[in-house]
Parts: sequence; C-alpha cells; structure tokens
Amino acid sequence: MSSENANNISILNANRQDVADEESVRQLEYIEKAKAQVSFMEKELGRKLKACVVTFGCQMNARDSEKLLATLKLVGYEETESEDADFVIYNTCTVRDNADQRVLGRLGQCSNFKKNNPYMKIAICGCMMQEKSAVDKIKKSYRFVDLIFGTHNIYKFAELLYQSLNSDKMIIDIWKETDKIVEDLPVLRKYSFKSGVNIMFGCNNFCTYCIVPYVRGRERSRSPKDIIRECEKLAKDGVKEIMLLGQNVNSYGNDFEDGNPDKISFAQLIDEVTKVEGIERVRFMTPHPKDFSDELIDVIANNKKIARHIHLPLQSGNTEILRRMNRKYTKDDFLNLVNKIRTKLPDVAITTDIIVGFPGETKEDVDDTIDVVKKSAFDNAFTFIYSKRSGTPAATFEDQVPENVVKENFDRLLKVVQETAKEQSLKYEGQVQEVLVESVNDHDDSLMTGRMSNNTLVHFPGGVDLIGEMVKVKITECHGFYFFGEKVE
Ligand code: 5AD
Ligand code: SF4
Repeated sequence: MSSENANNISILNANRQDVADEESVRQLEYIEKAKAQVSFMEKELGRKLKACVVTFGCQMNARDSEKLLATLKLVGYEETESEDADFVIYNTCTVRDNADQRVLGRLGQCSNFKKNNPYMKIAICGCMMQEKSAVDKIKKSYRFVDLIFGTHNIYKFAELLYQSLNSDKMIIDIWKETDKIVEDLPVLRKYSFKSGVNIMFGCNNFCTYCIVPYVRGRERSRSPKDIIRECEKLAKDGVKEIMLLGQNVNSYGNDFEDGNPDKISFAQLIDEVTKVEGIERVRFMTPHPKDFSDELIDVIANNKKIARHIHLPLQSGNTEILRRMNRKYTKDDFLNLVNKIRTKLPDVAITTDIIVGFPGETKEDVDDTIDVVKKSAFDNAFTFIYSKRSGTPAATFEDQVPENVVKENFDRLLKVVQETAKEQSLKYEGQVQEVLVESVNDHDDSLMTGRMSNNTLVHFPGGVDLIGEMVKVKITECHGFYFFGEKVE
C-alpha cells in the first residue's frame, strides 16, 4: 500500500502496517506529531505551508532528498521549487570545493526570505555537515540556520523536524558514524516510472583525494532480501527502471561474514533484481575498476534487462599517479578491463570520471590519460579539476600543480574527450533503440524525451501518453550528447 500525492506519485511506506523496521515506526509517529503542528500553523497563517528541498551532488544525495521530501509532504507541506518557502532544506555535497561554495552562497541569499517570514525554518544536512569545519562556519556566520544534521542520522529527519518546529534554538545533531541501516522510511519518487535503490552505504577505498569515506563512513550493505522487497514494492507501484546505488557497488556484500546466507556477489544481486516482475531495465552506479569481475561481465552479457551502460571511473591514465591516488590498478589493468568489456559487451557504452591536476601531475602524465581516453574510446567523460579536500592524504602532498598548468592540461584533455564521444555517438545513427520515455521536451512540446539503454537522451515526436512507457525509437540524427529519432511500430 502507498499513499497518493498531488503529482500522482506515491509515497512508499507511508502506512504503518507496511513497515517492519522499529525505528521507521518511531519516525512515522514523529510525522504524525509534526503534522498536527503544521496544521496548527496553517490555521494561524490562513494558508498551506510550503517546503523546498535543494539537492547538491550525486545520485545518492538525490535519493536521500526523495526521502526528505516524502516526510515533508506527509507532514503537510506543499512542495515548491522556490526557496521563498516555510521550510527550506539544503542537502549538501562536499566532494569538490565549488559545491561547498555554492551551498553557502545559496544559504546566504535564503536568509533574506526569513526576514519576511517569521515562521520560516532553514535546515542543512548531507556530506558537508560531516565536516567539523563546515559546521563551525555555519554556527559562527549563519546563525539564522535552524537545523543541522549529517549523513548518518538522516533517517531521524521526522524527529528532528518536529524538534525544530518546537524550538527557537539552532538544533545540531551530527553523528561520527553508524552501523545502522533503517529500512522502510517513507520515500517520494521524482519519477513514477524509475527509481534509485540504495544497495550499500559508505566506502572503504580511501582514494587519497576523496572525502567520501570520511563523510559517508565504512561500507554497509543492505541485505538482498530488503533490496528485492523494495524493488518488488516499486514494481507494483509502476516502476520499470531501477538504478542500484552505492559508492562502490561491486564490493557489495564484502562486509557480510563468510557463511552468512546474505553474502551474494553484486553480479548475483543485479541478476536477481532483473527477475522482479515488472522491472524492465536495471542500471548501477558506481563500480570501481579494481573490483569489476568477469562474473559481472558475463551476467551483463547474458541479461538484456541490464542497461547497456557502464560508468567506469578512470581518474588518471598514469600508473604512478594512480598509485598515489590509491586506486589499486595500473594504466594497463584499466585498458585490459576496457578491452574485455568492449569484446564481450560490444553494445555497452562506457563513460568515465577523470581528475586533472592531482598533486605532482605533469604534462606527460596527462598524455597517459589522453592515451587511455583514445584507446578506451569513452562514450562520455566527466572531467574534474582536482580540488584539495582538507583531511584527505592528498591535501598534504607537497607538489600541488599551478592553476595555469592545470587549465592547459584540462583543455587538452577535454578536446580529446569530446572527439571520442562524438565518434562513439555516431554509431547509433540508424539503429532502433528501446527508449524509456521520461518527459515532454523542454524546448518543443511536440517532442518527447526518453532515455536509451546506454543512458543518452533521445527526442522524438510523440504524445504525453507515452511518458513512463518503453518504446522503440529509430535514431535519425546525432547531436553529440543527445539524439533525435522517430518512434517505430
Ligand atoms: N577533486 C576533484 N574531483 C574529485 N572527485 C572526487 N574527489 C575529488 C576531488 N577532491 C571526482 C572523482 C569521482 C567523482 C564523483 O568526483 O572523479 O569519481
Ligand atoms: Fe571516493 Fe574512491 Fe570511494 Fe569513489 S571509491 S567514493 S573516489 S574513495
């Protein structure tokens, strides 16, 4: 059972009888208490209250935000995109410094709305709040913030919201870590036909540039039973496409003891998810090249429900830089893996992440990265400029690269990335592809926009009745990162 909202997207687990987890039942009780409070405030103000969830960062944060929004809706808030609202929450990212700066800029602007709305509450949560320096900054310079919490206790949002509605003080609740996974929290999906599903939380890899292991904690896998149960509920609710989410999905289950019947590999898990009735396509994000097994390649080869897309972060093509990044593979290991994937899975698109400007990186090191980009012929690559994160080992490395050198290398790399991506995309012209229709085109409402199995968008003439349907589209024109096409049949 699920409760409907105005957009006709259901809130999963909103009813107590569906909920097995004790903590989740406790939070549903807080939702009831907060609901009474919000209803009281509505009467005082003579209008409905509005809430805005602002999300920064990755797919994991997007999924967390769907949980925050579900709680806010159940409590009685109407959703709005505007930060001129009665409750605004920033779900933050801290992977790169520009994400931190962006959130602080937005937060500063938001305080102006509060001056005109004494009922307004401002909250901030997510990865950035797991850093003491960031919380100290908010405590000192952003006194108007009402509620601060981190990644480990996001399941307590209903309780914290209730406390905040009943307090004039800044409430701060940050946990250093947790071994707890709370199942069955209410969640409201952005799309009725596709959904992310967390399979694990945290990361044990400690790449030397990366803050994630410090802010998301150690790897904790959900049990296969809970994952399948969630997928079944979603499928019953009309979801056709699922994205299995984790910081390092192919080390799924490594934290279960030997002999535990839950200990199955990621390859086995994804195969099981495709068997759920009603699920037509399954994606995953993100695997680590060092753990990409032959078993997984074989499962993808034999199971057409698994999307024809692998996001395989390279980070650098130079073996010495990779060693200093603690990536645990060499240039040749990566190229061999890509070769194996391209041979066994010729129809799979491979995309990647690359960092430019890691401490000590020379022009020649970037030449190695460019060589890997050319040889791997990536379908797309996200290129990032190295951002020094305090608390990570790389932040203490001495040979930080000057900005102008980084910029030059970045531009050189980007040119090659764009060339290979363009070449790769041309091969789709003339093909007929299965497309999951997502929305009306942003610029032309006679067109629909859908997603191909390889994760790229295609625009084609069609009606809104197709939204949420899997249709066959012939690709007629390639425009770099998107296509035009025509529905066939
Ligand atoms: N600087 C720049 N990019 C980073 N990433 C992670 N940490 C940093 C950092 N300190 C990039 C990696 C990762 C992606 C999600 O973000 O490429 O794969
Ligand atoms: Fe960060 Fe590396 Fe973990 Fe990815 S695998 S989250 S880059 S530490």
